[in-house]
Amino acid sequence: MSDFPRVIEKIDALRAFVSQTRTAGKTIGLVPTMGALHEGHLSLVRRSVEQTDVTIVTVFVNPTQFAPDEDLSAYPRTLDQDLDLLAQAGAAVAFVPSNEEMYPPNCSTTVSPCELSSALEGEFRPTHFGGVLTVVLKLFNICQADMAFFGSKDYQQSLVIQKMVEDLNVPIQIEVCPIVREPDGMAMSSRSVYLSAEEREIALSLKRTIDLAKDQIQQGQRDGFELITEMRQSLIDGGVTSIDYAVVADAKTLETLDPIQLPCVILVAAHVGSTRLIDNCVVE
Ligand code: PAF
Repeated sequence: MSDFPRVIEKIDALRAFVSQTRTAGKTIGLVPTMGALHEGHLSLVRRSVEQTDVTIVTVFVNPTQFAPDEDLSAYPRTLDQDLDLLAQAGAAVAFVPSNEEMYPPNCSTTVSPCELSSALEGEFRPTHFGGVLTVVLKLFNICQADMAFFGSKDYQQSLVIQKMVEDLNVPIQIEVCPIVREPDGMAMSSRSVYLSAEEREIALSLKRTIDLAKDQIQQGQRDGFELITEMRQSLIDGGVTSIDYAVVADAKTLETLDPIQLPCVILVAAHVGSTRLIDNCVVE
């Protein structure tokens, strides 16, 4: 492992680093992650390195965004490998706080997410976005970055974060970067390590379903109900265990569209075995 990135575990130490960096007139880029880094995360880090002088990557598996029946304890933790990858991608600092550092016992203020968060992920994970926004705002405040980089695989998350930044006047510029895919089209995900070889094949049906919907929209399909029925059938034929949602929605408001209008976003969330996967595609 190379000397970089510098690993910082305490908020005070990170604040000192941020203050020195700012005094030196350098800009700061922030890439919040939960670790188990893959090419999707690294594309954000490389973009931050291109756009700003100093890149801070946070590695924190945020407990408040997991419901009690979700995979918090099983979530992959691969810190040594993550640090190697961050060194190669050019990150200056890895901020790796403990749960106690981020949430001391007397910490009780939370962010209440906007209306955009109530459908889709919010319907199936009602406490998720409150946890995401609270930790993201804390990380923004701790890191005082000029820019923060998020992946568009979490499409709804990126909209909800942008709305928080706008509504709460957070002085940071958000850049949402494209989904990075495996050669066979599957969207990269830290959770794909849970999949058996057979489940990995089934997981491809998410991308196949999105491609089918995109082709039909591009060929003029405007009947949202008919297309959603076809998408659900495609996921079932592909062998998914259950479907949370398969929709065509307005790209900004996330309202389900019938008739379909452009620009729209095709969004899918489904379980393959016990693994929950999401994917999406914007059609301009
Ligand atoms: O997208 C993620 O990995 C997480 O939701 C985030 C933004 C790092 C907050 O914990």
